[in-house]
Amino acid sequence: MRTSAAQPHGLPNRHPLQTTQVDEPMRDYVQPIGRKLARHYGFHPFPGRKDPGVVQAYIRHYTQPDQTVLDVFGGGGVTAREALILRRRAIVMDINPVAELVTRASVLPVDLEKLDSAFQTIAREVAERILAIDEMPAAEIERTLGEYDLSFLSGEIHTLIRRGAARGIRHLIDLHDPRQLLGLLLLRDAIRAEADDRIRLMLRVAFSHTLKYATRMFKAKRTGYWAGDSSVFLHFAYVVPETLSYKNVWLIFEHVFANVRKGKAEAQRLIGDFYQEGETFSFIRGSALNLQQELAARGLPANEFADYCITDPPYAEVIQYPLLFSIWYAWLDVEAPALEQDLTVPTRSESARREGISEEFVRKLTASIGAISRALRTGGWLTLFYQHSNLSYWKAIVEGAGEYDLRYVNLVPQPQNVKSFAQVKHPFKAIAGTLMLNLRKLPASVHEAIYGRPENRILFPSLHKFAELELQRVIVEYLGAPTDVIAYHVIPALLNPNLVSGKVQEAVDLIELIREQDLEPLGAEHVPNGEKDLWMLKPGVEIDPALDFYDRLRYHLFAFLRRQKEATQLELHATASEMIASEPHRMQTKLFELAPLLSEFAELQDGNWHYSPEARRRAVQMRLLLARSSADELRPVFFQADTALLPLRMQGLSELSSRYSQAVDRPLSGEYRTLQNLLVAVLTTIRDRFSSQLTSVSAIGPLAEGIVDLRNLELEDLSLGLISHSSIEDAVQLETTLAKEVFGRVFLNSGIMFTGLVRPLEHSSWLRTGNHITLLGQE
Ligand SMILES: C[S@@+](CC[C@H](N)C(=O)[O-])C[C@H]1O[C@@H](n2cnc3c(N)ncnc32)[C@H](O)[C@@H]1O
Repeated sequence: MRTSAAQPHGLPNRHPLQTTQVDEPMRDYVQPIGRKLARHYGFHPFPGRKDPGVVQAYIRHYTQPDQTVLDVFGGGGVTAREALILRRRAIVMDINPVAELVTRASVLPVDLEKLDSAFQTIAREVAERILAIDEMPAAEIERTLGEYDLSFLSGEIHTLIRRGAARGIRHLIDLHDPRQLLGLLLLRDAIRAEADDRIRLMLRVAFSHTLKYATRMFKAKRTGYWAGDSSVFLHFAYVVPETLSYKNVWLIFEHVFANVRKGKAEAQRLIGDFYQEGETFSFIRGSALNLQQELAARGLPANEFADYCITDPPYAEVIQYPLLFSIWYAWLDVEAPALEQDLTVPTRSESARREGISEEFVRKLTASIGAISRALRTGGWLTLFYQHSNLSYWKAIVEGAGEYDLRYVNLVPQPQNVKSFAQVKHPFKAIAGTLMLNLRKLPASVHEAIYGRPENRILFPSLHKFAELELQRVIVEYLGAPTDVIAYHVIPALLNPNLVSGKVQEAVDLIELIREQDLEPLGAEHVPNGEKDLWMLKPGVEIDPALDFYDRLRYHLFAFLRRQKEATQLELHATASEMIASEPHRMQTKLFELAPLLSEFAELQDGNWHYSPEARRRAVQMRLLLARSSADELRPVFFQADTALLPLRMQGLSELSSRYSQAVDRPLSGEYRTLQNLLVAVLTTIRDRFSSQLTSVSAIGPLAEGIVDLRNLELEDLSLGLISHSSIEDAVQLETTLAKEVFGRVFLNSGIMFTGLVRPLEHSSWLRTGNHITLLGQE
C-alpha cells in the first residue's frame, strides 16, 4: 500500500481514490462568458487566453472547494484566478516570466487607493512630456533618443515577420515608431521609480499591455482603435501593416491602466481573502517537463498532490508567440526562457512545419503529460484544451497519455462563441476550434471497471461503417445536410475514444475524407441547393433501422417531395405506407399523422403538399439550435436559489439518469433516442402542468421551447429548480402527474425496459407548441 507523503497546503491525508471524485466527465460544451469580464480581457493581452466561463465550469465539475487545481502551462493566469474565485487551491506553472508577472498581478491583493495615487504621480511626472512628443520635430526626437541606452532592443528578429522584413524591420527597435519609442522610454522610467513592489507590478502589467498598441504590428480596426490587435492574432503571422496605427503612448497607457485597474478590482472582489501565497496559491516558474524537480526544489510535494489539472498547452506550430514575447522580455527586462524548453518556439522552419508534425515537439508534449500524471492523485482528471488542425497531435496525446496511466475518456468540441458557431464559416476548419480532451488517471483495470473495456464498446464492424452511419444520421435528421453541419457532427463523433481505441489512423483518414469533401465513398451524393451545398443519401441506400423511425419516415417523404416538388395526400400516404410495411416492428397506424412531418419542409396548398425550401430552412435552424444550445445559462439560476432544498423523489428518475448517461455514448442506439424522447416528454409535462404554480417555470419553460440541449440537462438540475421555488404539494402533484402521464406504463411495468415509446404527438413541433403527450406502440 502506498503511504502518502505530507500533503501540500496542509490538506488532510486522503485515500488516493477520493469519494469526492467524479466518474462522469464533462460531456457538453459550455457557454463562453469571457468577453464581458474585466478581469480577463481587460487585464492583459497575454496570448492564447482561454474563456474563464469554460475554465470555471470544468473546475466546478471536477473538484470541490479546497481541493488543488494544477495548470502547468498557466499563461495569462486564467486557471489560477478562476480556481481561487471558486475557493480551490491553485498551483500554476509557466516557463515565461511575463506569464508569472501577469498571473501574480492578477491574484495578489493590491491596495487600489495606493495604485490610483501611483498613477497620479506618474501622470504628473510624464503625461505632458509624452503628449508633447507629437509636436516634436523628428530631429529632436532622434536627438533625445540618442541619450538613451537602447541596446536592450538590439535583438535580431529572425524569419518570423513575413512581409515586415521588406519594410526594413530587422531588430526589435525597428518595431517602434520613434515617437512611440520615446514615449515608452519616458513611461518605463517613471514606472521604475515606484518603490512599492506590488504597485510597481501592477504598473508593469499596464506597461506591457501598452506595448501591444505601441508597435508597428498593431492594426487598429475601422470600428474602433481599441478593437484592433497585433497582426499575429489577426493573420496568424507577423505582418507589419503599410500604415502605422498611431496613438500617443500616454493616451494608450491611460486607457489601458483604467482597464487593468477595473480587472484587478473585479478579481480582488471575487477572490477576497482566499489568496494566501504558498497556501492557496503557488506559482512555479519553470518547464512543465521538469515539474517534479521544480516542486521538490521548493520543498513542495511533487507527486499525487493535485486533484485536477486543466491546461492549455502551446501548439507552437499553429500560433507563434515568440516575437510578441521577445518585445515583452526586452522592455520588462526579464530573462527569456531557455529555447530548448520553451514549447512556444517552433522546432523547425515554417516550410518543414507545413509538411507534418515535429517529433521533437510531440516528445516534449507527451513528456509534460507524464509530469502531470505523476502530479495527479489517482482518480484525478486532466482536461486539455486541444486546438490543432493536425490530428497527429491529438493522436500523440491520446496514445502517449496511456503510457502514464492517463486514459482518454471523452472529447467535447468547445466553440469559442456558441452563437455564431451555428454558421461555421469554414466548415473544414471546424476541427480547429477548441476540443476539450478529458483524461483520467486510473489503473487500466479500474478504468475498465468504470468505463468498460474499449473493445466491448465498439458497436460497429469498422470505423468506415460508423462514419457512414453517422453521416446518414446527420443527413436524415437535418433533411439533407450542408458540409459544415456534417463536419460539426461527424468529426467529433469519429474522435470518440470508445470507437477509435486502436484505430486512430483509420479515424484520421476518415476525417481527411470529410475535410476533402469526398463524401461519396460514405454513401452520400451532392445535390444543388441554391447557394448552400447539400448532401443527400445516394438513392437506394438503405437507412439504418437504428435511427429514429420518425426521422427516417420524415426523410423518406422529404426526398420524395423534393424530387416531385408537389404531391397529393394520397401519394404521400402511399409512400409512407410503403416504408412502414418494410419496418421490422409494426407501428400502430391509428396514431399516425403525416402533417406535422410534412410541415417541416412543405406547405399545404389547395389540398396538395408543395416542397418549401423556406420551411425546411426554418426547421433545420430549430434543430441546430437545439443541438448546439446549452443548459449552462440556466444552471446558475438553479444554484443561486438559496431556499432550503427538498429533494424531489421521483421513482425511477435516478435510474433513468444513469441509463441515460450510458446511452449518451451510443447516440445511434434506439435506447438513446427513446430516453431523449422521454426527457422531452418530462419537460413538456412540467411546463404544461405547472406553469401557474412554479416560479421556476420561467426557467424550465424555455427548456421545453427548445432553447436547451436536453443532453445537457441533468436531472438534478431539474429537481433543484423545481423544488427551490415550489411547495411540497406542488412537488407531490408533479410527481403524480409525471408518474401517471409520462413514466406510467413505461417505468412501472418494465423497470425501465423500454417497451414503449413516449413522444409528443406533434413530433418535432413540440419545440414550439408541444402540448400533446401520448404513449405510443407498446409491444
Ligand atoms: C496557450 S498558452 C496558455 C494560455 C492560458 N490557457 C490562458 O488562458 O491564459 C501556453 C503557455 O505555455 C507556456 N510554456 C511554453 N513552454 C512551456 C514549458 N516547457 N513549461 C511550462 N510552460 C510553458 C507559454 O509560456 C504559454 O504561456
